[in-house]
Amino acid sequence: MTERKGPILFRPYTAFSGMRKAFEMGNAKVLATVKDAGLRGRGGAGFPTAMKWKFALDDISKDHQDYSKDRFIICNADEGEPGTFKDRVLLEEQLGLLLEGMLIAGYTIRASTGIIFLRGEYNYMWDQIKGTILRWRAEGMLGENLDGKGFDFDIHIRMGAGAYVCGEETALIESMEGYRGEPRNRPPFPVNAGFNKRPTVVNNVETLCQLPHILNEGADWFKKIGTEESTGSKLLSISGDCSKPGVYEVPFGVTIQAVLELAGAVGIKAVQVGGASGICLSAHEFDRTICFEDVPTGGSIIIFNTTRNMREVLVNFLGFFMEESCGQCTPCRYGTECLLDGILQLSRGECSDEYLSELLDLSDSMAIASKCGLGQSVANPFRSIIERFRGEIYHG
Ligand SMILES: Cc1cc2nc3c(=O)[nH]c(=O)nc-3n(C[C@H](O)[C@H](O)[C@H](O)COP(=O)(O)O)c2cc1C
Ligand code: SF4
Repeated sequence: MTERKGPILFRPYTAFSGMRKAFEMGNAKVLATVKDAGLRGRGGAGFPTAMKWKFALDDISKDHQDYSKDRFIICNADEGEPGTFKDRVLLEEQLGLLLEGMLIAGYTIRASTGIIFLRGEYNYMWDQIKGTILRWRAEGMLGENLDGKGFDFDIHIRMGAGAYVCGEETALIESMEGYRGEPRNRPPFPVNAGFNKRPTVVNNVETLCQLPHILNEGADWFKKIGTEESTGSKLLSISGDCSKPGVYEVPFGVTIQAVLELAGAVGIKAVQVGGASGICLSAHEFDRTICFEDVPTGGSIIIFNTTRNMREVLVNFLGFFMEESCGQCTPCRYGTECLLDGILQLSRGECSDEYLSELLDLSDSMAIASKCGLGQSVANPFRSIIERFRGEIYHG
């Protein structure tokens, strides 16, 4: 294993200590600690983790009274965002931390089942994950009455089949139920009616891996790392024009420039933060910081040097969205196609500047009218690349 350094996820850790700590504290205190730590989801949107858990815990639908048997914690290991590969590293190298994080989350929301939704391309990890689950069962770390007070919990694996949209939590749940992976209308939200219509929390791999450390070291320790609204650390998957691509753990609040230096990147003209659905920054903005208050990211950082053509980058992203749109709603299904077609026409000199303004308006409408985050986020790369590299869109 490559030696990895970082303030939280790759520090030395005693197996099962977070889980034992949770049982000592009881679920109300665990919830309060995670809330106090300010943990926010690492999957991209940054939703406060404790708040999501509380919604599921508090679900009062009369159908859900027998709650201990009917709640689910799902680990989102679909990792489909272009340029993101940090969850793969956690799954390969910190699997114990992840399973323990799932157990802690399950204990807190009173779930009896955890499910890892594993990206289709990660099926080579199946044996390793399954083997660890079986060992934990044999050692009594999964199964019945884990806390001595009646808490039962087990973990299963479900394979994804390679669609980007299945990383969206409601499409993921549809897929797990055996349907086409298409996003659902909300409400109801998964915390009230998720998998099998039961209260379900979906958390990212990295979010879950933070939990054992938070319980062991305490909320104050966690809050000292990062910024006021983005506490803790973030894993970045860094790729593109740099000499040291890879997965890095950084405290929130780090500048783009510092990230470029870590990765050995020089002569850089653009950085795409957050993958295809994120925003593009140009060189004069490299003092901006990675955090929810400034530039948020699920972890993907793609670096472009001066030899890259940003129109080709945009065409590539739009082609990706067109391919991955589930086609359920018109703004996304037709909008992605119009944007791609428009950029190609502009590059051939077949369209006017006014038409480009119309395309920008269209992307804004897609952000408002699309049903899920896929269609809603197309405007991020579209607007940010055009605003910063307009010249290349015409003459690239
Ligand atoms: C198109 C699309 C793809 C997504 N893919 C992922 C993914 O691969 N992994 C992930 O954790 N979240 C992904 N999300 C976000 C999830 O819907 C969800 O917000 C997240 O898993 C919640 O976990 P967190 O609160 O721990 O961040 C995606 C969202 C969209 C709209
Ligand atoms: S926004 Fe796109 S991916 Fe999402 S539901 Fe609509 S068509 Fe499907």
